[in-house]
Amino acid sequence: MPSPLLELRDVSLSFGRVHVLKGVSFDVFPGEIVALVGDNGAGKSSLIKVVTGVHRRTGGEITFRGRPIAVTSVRESREMGIETVYQERALADQQELWRNVFVGRELTTVAGFLDIPRQKEETRRLLREYMGFTSEAIDIDTEVKSLSGGEKQGVAIARALYFNAELIILDEPTSGLAVSEQRKVLSFIRGIRDKGKTAIFIDHNIFHVHDVADRFVILDKGRVAAQFAKHEITRDELIDMMVELHNKGAIVQ
Ligand SMILES: Nc1ncnc2c1ncn2[C@@H]1O[C@H](COP(=O)(O)OP(=O)(O)OP(=O)(O)O)[C@@H](O)[C@H]1O
Ligand SMILES: [Mg+2]
Repeated sequence: MPSPLLELRDVSLSFGRVHVLKGVSFDVFPGEIVALVGDNGAGKSSLIKVVTGVHRRTGGEITFRGRPIAVTSVRESREMGIETVYQERALADQQELWRNVFVGRELTTVAGFLDIPRQKEETRRLLREYMGFTSEAIDIDTEVKSLSGGEKQGVAIARALYFNAELIILDEPTSGLAVSEQRKVLSFIRGIRDKGKTAIFIDHNIFHVHDVADRFVILDKGRVAAQFAKHEITRDELIDMMVELHNKGAIVQ
Protein backbone atom coordinates (compact mmCIF):
# COMPACT_ATOMS: atom_id res chain seq x y z
CA MET A 1 0.00 0.00 0.00
CA PRO A 2 1.53 3.39 -0.95
CA SER A 3 1.49 6.19 1.60
CA PRO A 4 -1.49 8.52 1.36
CA LEU A 5 -1.18 11.73 -0.63
CA LEU A 6 -3.61 13.44 1.73
CA GLU A 7 -4.41 12.37 5.28
CA LEU A 8 -7.16 13.92 7.36
CA ARG A 9 -7.06 13.10 11.05
CA ASP A 10 -9.87 14.16 13.32
CA VAL A 11 -10.43 17.40 11.43
CA SER A 12 -13.01 19.71 12.95
CA LEU A 13 -14.45 23.07 11.95
CA SER A 14 -16.77 25.32 13.89
CA PHE A 15 -18.31 28.64 13.06
CA GLY A 16 -18.98 30.00 16.51
CA ARG A 17 -21.26 27.44 18.11
CA VAL A 18 -22.06 25.70 14.85
CA HIS A 19 -20.00 22.52 14.52
CA VAL A 20 -19.75 21.86 10.83
CA LEU A 21 -17.03 19.16 10.89
CA LYS A 22 -16.78 16.87 13.90
CA GLY A 23 -13.61 14.81 13.73
CA VAL A 24 -13.30 13.83 10.07
CA SER A 25 -10.63 11.25 9.24
CA PHE A 26 -9.87 9.63 5.90
CA ASP A 27 -7.00 9.15 3.45
CA VAL A 28 -6.64 9.86 -0.23
CA PHE A 29 -4.07 7.70 -2.02
CA PRO A 30 -2.04 8.75 -5.05
CA GLY A 31 -3.76 8.11 -8.37
CA GLU A 32 -7.23 7.50 -7.03
CA ILE A 33 -10.47 9.38 -7.41
CA VAL A 34 -12.26 9.66 -4.10
CA ALA A 35 -15.89 10.71 -4.13
CA LEU A 36 -17.13 12.71 -1.20
CA VAL A 37 -20.87 12.21 -0.94
CA GLY A 38 -23.50 13.32 1.50
CA ASP A 39 -26.69 15.25 1.93
CA ASN A 40 -27.01 19.03 1.58
CA GLY A 41 -25.23 20.61 4.51
CA ALA A 42 -23.24 17.48 5.39
CA GLY A 43 -20.03 19.52 5.34
CA LYS A 44 -18.48 18.46 2.01
CA SER A 45 -17.69 21.95 0.71
CA SER A 46 -16.57 23.09 4.14
CA LEU A 47 -14.16 20.17 4.32
CA ILE A 48 -12.53 20.98 1.01
CA LYS A 49 -12.35 24.64 2.00
CA VAL A 50 -10.36 23.58 5.03
CA VAL A 51 -7.98 21.60 2.80
CA THR A 52 -7.58 24.53 0.38
CA GLY A 53 -7.06 27.22 2.97
CA VAL A 54 -10.38 29.06 2.66
CA HIS A 55 -11.35 28.10 6.22
CA ARG A 56 -8.98 27.54 9.11
CA ARG A 57 -9.73 24.22 10.84
CA THR A 58 -10.52 24.33 14.54
CA GLY A 59 -8.93 20.96 15.30
CA GLY A 60 -7.20 17.91 13.93
CA GLU A 61 -4.35 17.39 11.53
CA ILE A 62 -3.92 17.40 7.76
CA THR A 63 -0.93 15.82 6.06
CA PHE A 64 -0.10 16.31 2.38
CA ARG A 65 2.70 14.25 0.80
CA GLY A 66 3.65 13.05 4.27
CA ARG A 67 4.05 16.51 5.79
CA PRO A 68 1.66 18.19 8.21
CA ILE A 69 0.19 21.29 6.61
CA ALA A 70 -1.53 24.39 7.94
CA VAL A 71 -2.85 26.09 4.83
CA THR A 72 -4.00 29.64 5.34
CA SER A 73 -4.72 30.74 1.78
CA VAL A 74 -5.86 29.35 -1.54
CA ARG A 75 -2.62 30.57 -3.08
CA GLU A 76 -0.64 28.53 -0.58
CA SER A 77 -2.61 25.36 -1.31
CA ARG A 78 -2.08 25.90 -5.05
CA GLU A 79 1.63 26.26 -4.54
CA MET A 80 1.59 22.93 -2.70
CA GLY A 81 -0.13 21.28 -5.64
CA ILE A 82 -3.79 21.36 -4.62
CA GLU A 83 -6.27 22.92 -7.09
CA THR A 84 -10.02 23.28 -6.83
CA VAL A 85 -12.50 23.33 -9.70
CA TYR A 86 -15.93 24.70 -8.82
CA GLN A 87 -19.11 24.54 -10.79
CA GLU A 88 -19.28 28.31 -11.02
CA ARG A 89 -16.33 30.65 -11.08
CA ALA A 90 -14.25 28.07 -12.91
CA LEU A 91 -13.22 30.62 -15.53
CA ALA A 92 -13.68 34.34 -16.21
CA ASP A 93 -16.27 34.64 -18.97
CA GLN A 94 -15.15 37.95 -20.44
CA GLN A 95 -11.60 36.88 -21.13
CA GLU A 96 -10.03 34.98 -23.96
CA LEU A 97 -9.29 31.36 -23.30
CA TRP A 98 -5.50 31.81 -23.25
CA ARG A 99 -5.71 34.63 -20.70
CA ASN A 100 -7.84 32.46 -18.44
CA VAL A 101 -5.30 29.69 -18.40
CA PHE A 102 -2.53 31.94 -17.12
CA VAL A 103 -4.46 34.43 -15.00
CA GLY A 104 -2.48 35.02 -11.81
CA ARG A 105 0.36 32.83 -13.10
CA GLU A 106 1.44 34.73 -16.20
CA LEU A 107 4.47 33.64 -18.16
CA THR A 108 7.06 36.36 -18.57
CA THR A 109 10.08 36.94 -20.78
CA VAL A 110 13.59 37.09 -19.34
CA ALA A 111 13.17 40.89 -19.28
CA GLY A 112 10.06 40.49 -17.12
CA PHE A 113 7.42 41.37 -19.74
CA LEU A 114 4.29 39.31 -20.34
CA ASP A 115 5.15 36.60 -22.83
CA ILE A 116 1.88 36.51 -24.76
CA PRO A 117 3.09 34.37 -27.69
CA ARG A 118 4.31 31.68 -25.28
CA GLN A 119 1.09 31.80 -23.27
CA LYS A 120 -0.88 31.31 -26.48
CA GLU A 121 1.36 28.49 -27.64
CA GLU A 122 1.14 26.76 -24.28
CA THR A 123 -2.66 27.12 -24.30
CA ARG A 124 -2.73 25.42 -27.70
CA ARG A 125 -0.58 22.60 -26.34
CA LEU A 126 -2.71 22.27 -23.23
CA LEU A 127 -5.89 21.94 -25.27
CA ARG A 128 -4.30 19.34 -27.49
CA GLU A 129 -2.52 17.30 -24.87
CA TYR A 130 -4.82 17.53 -21.89
CA MET A 131 -8.21 17.87 -23.52
CA GLY A 132 -7.80 16.15 -26.83
CA PHE A 133 -9.18 19.24 -28.60
CA THR A 134 -7.84 20.00 -32.04
CA SER A 135 -6.86 23.61 -32.63
CA GLU A 136 -9.70 23.90 -35.16
CA ALA A 137 -12.36 22.71 -32.72
CA ILE A 138 -11.69 25.45 -30.23
CA ASP A 139 -9.99 28.80 -30.61
CA ILE A 140 -7.66 30.03 -27.91
CA ASP A 141 -8.56 33.65 -28.78
CA THR A 142 -12.30 33.30 -28.25
CA GLU A 143 -13.90 34.57 -25.11
CA VAL A 144 -14.63 31.88 -22.58
CA LYS A 145 -18.34 32.67 -22.56
CA SER A 146 -18.71 31.04 -25.97
CA LEU A 147 -17.55 27.68 -24.59
CA SER A 148 -20.11 25.17 -23.38
CA GLY A 149 -20.37 24.49 -19.65
CA GLY A 150 -18.64 21.13 -19.99
CA GLU A 151 -15.82 22.65 -22.03
CA LYS A 152 -15.26 25.32 -19.40
CA GLN A 153 -14.92 22.64 -16.75
CA GLY A 154 -12.56 20.78 -19.06
CA VAL A 155 -10.36 23.85 -19.42
CA ALA A 156 -10.33 24.35 -15.65
CA ILE A 157 -9.27 20.72 -15.13
CA ALA A 158 -6.67 20.90 -17.92
CA ARG A 159 -5.29 24.10 -16.39
CA ALA A 160 -4.89 22.38 -13.03
CA LEU A 161 -3.06 19.49 -14.70
CA TYR A 162 -0.89 21.90 -16.67
CA PHE A 163 0.24 23.60 -13.47
CA ASN A 164 1.09 20.19 -12.08
CA ALA A 165 -1.56 19.90 -9.42
CA GLU A 166 -1.11 16.61 -7.57
CA LEU A 167 -4.59 16.79 -6.08
CA ILE A 168 -7.56 18.22 -7.95
CA ILE A 169 -10.71 18.86 -5.96
CA LEU A 170 -13.96 19.08 -7.89
CA ASP A 171 -16.95 20.50 -6.04
CA GLU A 172 -20.09 19.64 -7.99
CA PRO A 173 -18.49 20.21 -11.38
CA THR A 174 -21.49 18.81 -13.28
CA SER A 175 -24.32 20.63 -11.55
CA GLY A 176 -26.45 22.79 -13.81
CA LEU A 177 -25.09 21.24 -16.99
CA ALA A 178 -26.98 19.43 -19.73
CA VAL A 179 -26.56 15.66 -19.77
CA SER A 180 -24.20 15.69 -22.76
CA GLU A 181 -22.05 18.32 -21.03
CA GLN A 182 -22.03 16.31 -17.80
CA ARG A 183 -20.70 13.39 -19.78
CA LYS A 184 -17.83 15.53 -21.06
CA VAL A 185 -16.93 16.59 -17.54
CA LEU A 186 -16.91 12.97 -16.34
CA SER A 187 -14.56 12.05 -19.14
CA PHE A 188 -12.25 14.96 -18.19
CA ILE A 189 -12.27 13.65 -14.61
CA ARG A 190 -11.23 10.20 -15.84
CA GLY A 191 -8.39 12.02 -17.60
CA ILE A 192 -7.06 13.11 -14.22
CA ARG A 193 -6.48 9.48 -13.26
CA ASP A 194 -5.02 8.72 -16.70
CA LYS A 195 -2.41 11.41 -16.04
CA GLY A 196 -1.51 9.70 -12.76
CA LYS A 197 -2.98 12.49 -10.65
CA THR A 198 -5.42 12.32 -7.78
CA ALA A 199 -8.89 13.80 -7.30
CA ILE A 200 -11.59 14.38 -4.74
CA PHE A 201 -14.94 14.53 -6.50
CA ILE A 202 -18.13 15.90 -4.96
CA ASP A 203 -21.38 15.23 -6.79
CA HIS A 204 -24.96 14.57 -5.74
CA ASN A 205 -25.50 12.29 -8.70
CA ILE A 206 -24.66 8.78 -7.50
CA PHE A 207 -24.61 7.52 -11.08
CA HIS A 208 -21.73 9.91 -11.80
CA VAL A 209 -20.00 9.14 -8.56
CA HIS A 210 -20.20 5.38 -8.91
CA ASP A 211 -19.10 5.55 -12.51
CA VAL A 212 -16.01 7.69 -11.99
CA ALA A 213 -14.73 7.18 -8.44
CA ASP A 214 -12.51 4.42 -7.02
CA ARG A 215 -13.65 4.98 -3.47
CA PHE A 216 -16.53 6.67 -1.68
CA VAL A 217 -16.42 8.58 1.58
CA ILE A 218 -19.87 9.28 2.95
CA LEU A 219 -20.17 12.39 5.05
CA ASP A 220 -23.18 12.86 7.31
CA LYS A 221 -23.69 15.89 9.54
CA GLY A 222 -20.00 16.63 9.79
CA ARG A 223 -18.85 13.04 10.36
CA VAL A 224 -17.64 10.22 8.16
CA ALA A 225 -20.59 7.81 8.21
CA ALA A 226 -18.93 5.13 6.07
CA GLN A 227 -16.26 4.50 3.43
CA PHE A 228 -16.23 1.95 0.64
CA ALA A 229 -13.98 0.91 -2.18
CA LYS A 230 -15.87 0.64 -5.44
CA HIS A 231 -15.84 -3.19 -5.41
CA GLU A 232 -17.40 -3.20 -1.93
CA ILE A 233 -20.68 -1.53 -2.79
CA THR A 234 -23.01 -1.49 -5.77
CA ARG A 235 -24.49 1.69 -7.11
CA ASP A 236 -27.93 0.74 -5.83
CA GLU A 237 -26.60 -0.01 -2.36
CA LEU A 238 -24.90 3.37 -2.32
CA ILE A 239 -28.13 5.09 -3.36
CA ASP A 240 -30.08 3.19 -0.66
CA MET A 241 -27.56 4.30 1.94
CA MET A 242 -27.82 7.95 0.91
CA VAL A 243 -31.62 7.81 1.00
CA GLU A 244 -31.53 6.18 4.43
CA LEU A 245 -29.19 8.85 5.83
CA HIS A 246 -31.37 11.55 4.32
CA ASN A 247 -34.53 10.12 5.88
CA LYS A 248 -32.89 9.72 9.26
CA GLY A 249 -31.78 13.36 9.14
CA ALA A 250 -35.28 14.44 8.15
CA ILE A 251 -36.81 12.67 11.17
CA VAL A 252 -34.35 14.25 13.61
CA GLN A 253 -35.00 17.76 12.32
N1 LIG B 1 -19.33 30.48 6.67
C1 LIG B 1 -20.21 29.76 7.34
N2 LIG B 1 -20.73 30.17 8.53
C2 LIG B 1 -21.61 29.42 9.23
N3 LIG B 1 -22.06 28.22 8.83
C3 LIG B 1 -21.59 27.75 7.66
C4 LIG B 1 -20.65 28.48 6.85
N4 LIG B 1 -20.36 27.76 5.74
C5 LIG B 1 -21.10 26.62 5.85
N5 LIG B 1 -21.83 26.62 6.98
C6 LIG B 1 -22.74 25.55 7.43
O1 LIG B 1 -22.01 24.35 7.45
C7 LIG B 1 -22.83 23.25 7.10
C8 LIG B 1 -22.15 22.48 5.98
O2 LIG B 1 -22.17 23.24 4.79
P1 LIG B 1 -21.44 22.77 3.48
O3 LIG B 1 -21.58 23.86 2.48
O4 LIG B 1 -20.08 22.32 3.81
O5 LIG B 1 -22.32 21.50 3.06
P2 LIG B 1 -22.26 20.61 1.76
O6 LIG B 1 -22.11 19.20 2.21
O7 LIG B 1 -21.25 21.13 0.81
O8 LIG B 1 -23.73 20.79 1.18
P3 LIG B 1 -24.25 20.89 -0.35
O9 LIG B 1 -24.35 19.49 -0.84
O10 LIG B 1 -25.59 21.52 -0.21
O11 LIG B 1 -23.28 21.72 -1.12
C9 LIG B 1 -24.18 23.84 6.71
O12 LIG B 1 -25.04 23.65 7.80
C10 LIG B 1 -23.87 25.29 6.47
O13 LIG B 1 -24.97 26.09 6.77
MG1 LIG C 1 -21.33 21.97 -1.10
